[in-house]
Amino acid sequence: MEVNLPATSIRWVQPDAPRPLVPLATTRLTSARRGIESPFIMQIRPAIHADLPGILEIYNDAVLHTTATYDYEPRSLEQRTAWFVERQRDGYPIFVAIDDAGRVVGWSALNPYHARIGYRFTAENSVYVAAEARGRGIGRLLLGPLIEGAKTRGLHAIIAAIDAQNEASIRLHVAFGFEKAGHFREVGFKFGRWLDVVYMERLV
Ligand SMILES: CC(C)(COP(=O)(O)OP(=O)(O)OC[C@H]1O[C@@H](n2cnc3c(N)ncnc32)[C@H](O)[C@@H]1OP(=O)(O)O)[C@@H](O)C(=O)NCCC(=O)NCCS
Repeated sequence: MEVNLPATSIRWVQPDAPRPLVPLATTRLTSARRGIESPFIMQIRPAIHADLPGILEIYNDAVLHTTATYDYEPRSLEQRTAWFVERQRDGYPIFVAIDDAGRVVGWSALNPYHARIGYRFTAENSVYVAAEARGRGIGRLLLGPLIEGAKTRGLHAIIAAIDAQNEASIRLHVAFGFEKAGHFREVGFKFGRWLDVVYMERLV
């Protein structure tokens, strides 16, 4: 299913190519959901090293306050840097959303799905938007380029493992043609309760 993104030109740049100086997408967003009336400018571009503290902060906030990830402990900048270096080395795309103040307000990435070689054409995705910026369409802006990036990387399938109660993430993935492929009951445990995980898949 194709999605009508805001009127922007979205262009994928080879992971090993020099970092573009211009954003992949610049768009003006408003938030009807939160009743925020003033529009703001959002840029989507490949992540660079300097974005890592912002990426880390968004992830760690989700670790502490949500079941979007089943990590319990915040990660360190060293761990996030090692992740970034590995993704760069292996050609997996990472994108960031930058607001008009230059802050990282969201990120998306592809990660290897499984170490066994026969799974090498499959990736698992991550999409995280800062708590105060959710519900404004930034998740949508971040997921589109990721799918394009998967095509460029020669991947065949993208899997999203989503907490079954994460309605926003499920809706986001449905909007990009992901289909429910499985529902695992009580495979996660966080905040004192068992959690179901929905697997969604999109063939590239
Ligand atoms: C999931 C997440 C990435 C979505 O990003 P977002 O910028 O908030 O979402 P968008 O504004 O682009 O909206 C995407 C879809 O989610 C829906 N949505 C957004 N917030 C929602 C909410 N609180 N409840 C229900 N649906 C919601 C939107 O309506 C839209 O669906 P539609 O196209 O059917 O209308 C974001 O909420 C987030 O970072 N959550 C915490 C981390 C997380 O859950 N990551 C995903 C792990 S699998």
